[in-house]
Amino acid sequence: MSSATSSVARVAYLASDIIVDSQPTLPSTSQFAKEYISLSATSNRRPIILSVPLGGDPGSTLLRNGSTAGLISFTSSATAQTVIRLVLGAAELSSLPLVLHLAVRNDLSEVLLLHSAVPFFLVSRTPQQAHDNSLLASRLARTEKKAVVHAFYDAGNDSVEEILESEVQPFLLSEKLASTNGVNGHIGANGHNGVNGHNGANGHNGMNGHNGANGHNGMNGHNGANGHNGMNGHNGANGHNGHANGANGTNGVNGHSATTVTPGSELFKLYERAALSTVVRIRRACPPLFVHGSSKPHTVIFGLGDIPSVDIDGVSVVSLSLLTPLIPSRILDVIPPSASRVIILEQLHRWNTKWTPLYLEIVDAINQRQVEQRPHIQSVYFSDPTQVIPLAILKILQAAPSSAPIHLGGTNASSLHSLEVPHIPKHESSYTKILSHVFGERLEVSNSPSLVLKQGAIATSPEFALGRVRGQLDQRDELIRSVQKLLEVKEVSPELHKLCSQWVLVKDDDTKSRSVGKELIAAFESSKLSSPIINRILALRAHFPAPSRWIIGSDAWSYDLGASGLHHAIASGLNINILIIDTLPYTSRNSADPHRRKQDAGLYAMNHGDVYVASVAVYSSYAQVLQAVVEADRHKGPSVVLAYLPYQNEDTPALEVLKETKLAVDAGYWPLYRWDPAKEAQGKEPFALDSDAVKNDLQQFLDRQNHLSQLVRSKPELATELVSSLGENVKEARRKKAQQAYDDLVVSLDAPPLVVLYASDGGTAEKFAKRLANRGKARGLSTSIGTIDSMSIDTLSQEEYVAFVTSVAGQGEPPQNGRTLFKALNAAALRGEKPFSKLRYSVFALGDSHYWPRPEDAHYYNKPGKDLDARLEQLGGERFADIGLGDDQDADGPDTGYKVWEPLVWKTFGVDSIEVKEAEPDPITNEHIKAASGYLRGTIAEGLEDTSTGALDPSDTQLTKFHGIYQQDDRDIRDERQAQGVEPAYGFMIRVRTPGGVCTPEQWLQMDRIADEHGNGTFKITTRATFQFHGVIKRHLKPAIQEINKVLLDTLAACGDVNRNVICSAIPSLSRLHAQVYNFAKLVSAHLLPRTTAYHEIWLDKKMVAGEAVKDFEPLYGEFYLPRKFKIAVAVPPTNDVDVFANDLGFIAVVDEQGELAGFNVAIGGGMGVTHGNKKTYPRVADVIGFCTVEQGPIVAEKVVLTQRDNGNRADRKNARLKYTIDRMGLEAFKAEVESRLGYSLAPARSYTFNRNIDDFGWSTGDDGRHHVMLFIENGRIQDEPERDFKTGLREIAMIHKGTFRLTANQHIMISEISTEDVPEIKRILAKYKLDNLNHTGLRLSSSACVAFPTCGLAMAESERYLPVLIDKVEKICEENGLRNDSIVMRMTGCPNGCARPYVAEVAFVGKAPGSYSMLLGGGYYGQRLNKIYRETVSEPEILAILKPMIKRYALERLEGEHFGDFVIRAGYIAQTTSGKEWYDNMGGEGQYREAA
Ligand SMILES: Cc1cc2nc3c(=O)[nH]c(=O)nc-3n(C[C@H](O)[C@H](O)[C@H](O)COP(=O)(O)O)c2cc1C
Ligand code: SF4
Repeated sequence: MSSATSSVARVAYLASDIIVDSQPTLPSTSQFAKEYISLSATSNRRPIILSVPLGGDPGSTLLRNGSTAGLISFTSSATAQTVIRLVLGAAELSSLPLVLHLAVRNDLSEVLLLHSAVPFFLVSRTPQQAHDNSLLASRLARTEKKAVVHAFYDAGNDSVEEILESEVQPFLLSEKLASTNGVNGHIGANGHNGVNGHNGANGHNGMNGHNGANGHNGMNGHNGANGHNGMNGHNGANGHNGHANGANGTNGVNGHSATTVTPGSELFKLYERAALSTVVRIRRACPPLFVHGSSKPHTVIFGLGDIPSVDIDGVSVVSLSLLTPLIPSRILDVIPPSASRVIILEQLHRWNTKWTPLYLEIVDAINQRQVEQRPHIQSVYFSDPTQVIPLAILKILQAAPSSAPIHLGGTNASSLHSLEVPHIPKHESSYTKILSHVFGERLEVSNSPSLVLKQGAIATSPEFALGRVRGQLDQRDELIRSVQKLLEVKEVSPELHKLCSQWVLVKDDDTKSRSVGKELIAAFESSKLSSPIINRILALRAHFPAPSRWIIGSDAWSYDLGASGLHHAIASGLNINILIIDTLPYTSRNSADPHRRKQDAGLYAMNHGDVYVASVAVYSSYAQVLQAVVEADRHKGPSVVLAYLPYQNEDTPALEVLKETKLAVDAGYWPLYRWDPAKEAQGKEPFALDSDAVKNDLQQFLDRQNHLSQLVRSKPELATELVSSLGENVKEARRKKAQQAYDDLVVSLDAPPLVVLYASDGGTAEKFAKRLANRGKARGLSTSIGTIDSMSIDTLSQEEYVAFVTSVAGQGEPPQNGRTLFKALNAAALRGEKPFSKLRYSVFALGDSHYWPRPEDAHYYNKPGKDLDARLEQLGGERFADIGLGDDQDADGPDTGYKVWEPLVWKTFGVDSIEVKEAEPDPITNEHIKAASGYLRGTIAEGLEDTSTGALDPSDTQLTKFHGIYQQDDRDIRDERQAQGVEPAYGFMIRVRTPGGVCTPEQWLQMDRIADEHGNGTFKITTRATFQFHGVIKRHLKPAIQEINKVLLDTLAACGDVNRNVICSAIPSLSRLHAQVYNFAKLVSAHLLPRTTAYHEIWLDKKMVAGEAVKDFEPLYGEFYLPRKFKIAVAVPPTNDVDVFANDLGFIAVVDEQGELAGFNVAIGGGMGVTHGNKKTYPRVADVIGFCTVEQGPIVAEKVVLTQRDNGNRADRKNARLKYTIDRMGLEAFKAEVESRLGYSLAPARSYTFNRNIDDFGWSTGDDGRHHVMLFIENGRIQDEPERDFKTGLREIAMIHKGTFRLTANQHIMISEISTEDVPEIKRILAKYKLDNLNHTGLRLSSSACVAFPTCGLAMAESERYLPVLIDKVEKICEENGLRNDSIVMRMTGCPNGCARPYVAEVAFVGKAPGSYSMLLGGGYYGQRLNKIYRETVSEPEILAILKPMIKRYALERLEGEHFGDFVIRAGYIAQTTSGKEWYDNMGGEGQYREAA
């Protein structure tokens, strides 16, 4: 028999490296400590055991010790004092491998304060559960390095099946079980995970054992279908359901990439993973929710706490073992459709807000159902379990549903603690109750309405309150002085002397000042000594305890503190806390309310530097409110807590308050933050942003603050003046300063500011908007800038002067970051509203009059800007300057129009005559970012630690490219997420560096695993013959990179302004030659690698160079690296499978008569990227400039790179590639510079012949007798699809293959170097997975597409997902004309960047907008010639209509061996392109095929 405490203590002892135990008041010993002493006698383990006294701060002990421990545990009873201290440090504690075991005696009121402050919260009712959850919690904390609260009931003994001591450590350290399963549902499809076996043996269904019996099976197959989390690895456990669940598992994979991943669900996965490992070890189910009772209930009771079993017909009871994170789908799973009622039964004798955390979670989940399917919800709470009897529950069931919580039995103890504040509106008591809960007896509300009875209405005014406080503080000062004086009196007895000095020491301590004060008073009273000092002290006895003084500002019952009161309080410098409650609901904030600027009070207060300021919202983050009030109390000076509580009147339902709060916080209208000046003095960051969204002005404040801090640091005397509170002079100075700041604030609020709003997809409109804002500032205007979508109609209607800058994206459509407001404006116009009576506006529009060249599309030109201009007028706005039009086609591009428009703006403000002398700040370019990055470090490492966003800092995203990492977001759900007001679903693309495209089976298996564990379950072979993962979330970046490096691959320089992955021909038949060119490719790649150690430092945790004596050095690239990316390919004629001419630098292998590699022809200046409509950009094929030997090759590469480094255009990234440098310098001049750097001339080029650029599919035998097979992988996507489990098949091959894999630049895979005896087995596996299917048309085998949607941030149209569909249709045309097996090179990209090398294809499609492509014709079959634009805009019907007759004619009229690209030129469809610079000449078709312009 064991008690819960002894079981928990045993697990904590055996599992932890360090235990911190909370001691009760001496002389008693903690229950846990007793257990630890007896364990130390029997166990071999010796964890470090530290104890903290009851009044001590456990948080700081845990923080000090936790970072070095594998696992640290805290054991304590769940007293209010301990819990509140833990809440304070919760943010920092959360990322420790920490379990907080808290023994609960009566109910959960105390311990639940921690509920939203830590990542995981478990509750145990029985000793056995306490044992199991202790293990689970230890495992979870240890493996995930996160804090877990384990609250357990400490009542009674029971028989507990305990884990053996010898098993504890192995269990904690064992591999993460079935992690692939957990994260990626598709493994469920294979049904081969160990857990299933285990459960099968148990005869239980899934994790939820007993659920199986009532048909709610296990972990619920439908999650997979929902794609919520693809946790269906577990589902395989369900015996006969396994198959169906397996199928769902595949959906899980889709779901994973397509579904919003909330932080909760991510944490939930971690929990499940640990739970799974625990189940396997203890062979008992430990599900998050236990369900018993009716399988088709009409009522579901969710029970939290020590709830006796209630068996009532038609009722099922769900008891919770996991409280955080509880995801809605899990809650909904246990509420079957039959349930019309849900009761939430919680053991709480008091709670400070109307609704409890569990209630809110469940309401939130149920609200995800259709309205008609939502059961009624009833909140019931109790403190005494004996009150929870079936009869009581039946009574509740029979009573009419009520929206108010019901209290089962007993008295509500909260009334004992509540303030006697008769006039506080009921909603506002949420805050006042928190104050009374946290500070208890110490709380002193200086303007409490209860004072009105004695003092009259004036008692609640801030002036009165300040006066009172000042008086009280003066009296306390007098008390202190008197006690100190008494210490000098000789007659004072030693005991009294000791107590007096003790009190002086603890006078500022919350609890000790009270207790020592009490002893002191008792001592005075019993002392025979009499003196006037003692009389005075006794008269002032009320001031012995250090109270927490608060002034509360509420519209409802006290004067508005937002204006003068706040100003006075801050200027007073007194140690006073001010709580200002803002009740204006978010949705009605536009009604020109005088309090709408209340949030600015925070900024105003922060401006003083030494004022503690917090902005909180109880219905958004309870823990944050607690933190703020305790910090405010600790701050020795004025503190301002701005509290949000949106309600209209007393009857506003709490749910409405909740909804309004969420809106306001999520929209950034009410940001949650804390500003603690004391932290700055300790060298810590004084500002903590607790919510994601931040208002512009807050950001501006912070910018200013940085400036201020710098100033203060450089002038220490300023600091003294700012923070010191000594001396009348300083007080006076502060008062003046405060008045000045206040006046400034008022003035700046009065002046009409210029708001600049922009919408921009590609950054051009944004650049113009920033320029306008900067130039406005330089003219003394108060300007602010944001995206168009950062405003709602309401906020916009409050502005007076707004300049809009918008471009066009898509056919006449506004850019992404303006679409929401554009839609709202249209809707308002439809409703005939006129909200903009105050607004004066002007629009500058940027577009391209030739983007859609057909006459019928002319109205798309600058459409959004023109529409906006008209719409604002229609809605009541007044134009202050006529619309300006910028056109890409103008001589200076949009600048031409801008120069006309901008002066009109300055005229409006009367600042047109102001001469601006100061140079405008240069825009930050990639060149600045590179130079300032400390050799590619930037703040990437810090950004990875920041869990408040899934993104990295924008300038870091430029740097991560050099590390092979691109930040992207799921564009399929971008709109939806924007509508929800959450940040985009950020994920990262990781590109591996595999020089020469070769990898080993071991490396393949690792890539396969990484895709499952860290990516979206698939990966791609890219056009640079390497691996690419998508959808890797920030938290997974580092582990993914580390695992790539574990198999001796890396991602360094896979992207960025450096040399990228060097590719080489796959040439299966020439084994020796392949080995030579492959080695050459590796050599060149290694020679050109950046040398910075930042990569190793950031991703592999190698030693930091930054800040140490050794400085990074880039001998080749320098700190600016290259102006733009650089690509190298090595081709072996006659195959040009690497498209050598599309690269900046190409090496074309030359073989001597003996078949040995003699050297390379060198080709320079190829490149694909183009910008639509910008004729300064064009594709180019490389020119052969000579011959070099194998040994010379790497140095030749180096010199070409250096020549480009020093001559490339760094001012314009669109004109920076080598191709433009060569055309600008002239080929001969460029070559001459390379040769001069080499110190010799290149030999004349030797002859070579290419005859194809597609891959050689199927089997072949090399000259060394080994075999190779080239597989067709459409567009390089490695994934399992119905009937085509390619990913699984390739994994199976990798498990037995002894040779290598070669990845090709056409995105296919060759299984290489297979010995003759292994051929049959490889063939068998290929056949099993249909990987050997080469029965495709010549068109399909010759096709290639880039990634584009949904991950590529630059995509304008679909590519990888659409090309196969288009080919289905075009190949029918080919087949009809007998061209089934004829190869036509057809390529598609989602934007003109040209990743799939479309400009050398015979026919190509380049995305312009969804469904629209430009169509190009006439490229050379082996990549030797550029194609040309045939039609600037086509959609699918047009493509088919154009190709049908063209292909037919090709079939009939082609010459022997004539390729399609050559034919379309000969047949007069399109002019031949002879050089990049002439690419635009004669575009649009020839003769009768010319597009009517
Ligand atoms: C996908 C796409 C579609 C476009 N559609 C139009 C259009 O319909 N009308 C127009 O005037 N300009 C159009 N443009 C041109 C852009 O609006 C113009 O280049 C602008 O300067 C880009 O600004 P941004 O970089 O801020 O997005 C389009 C550009 C792109 C990339
Ligand atoms: S071509 Fe454009 S859309 Fe396609 S992957 Fe490259 S950048 Fe993205």
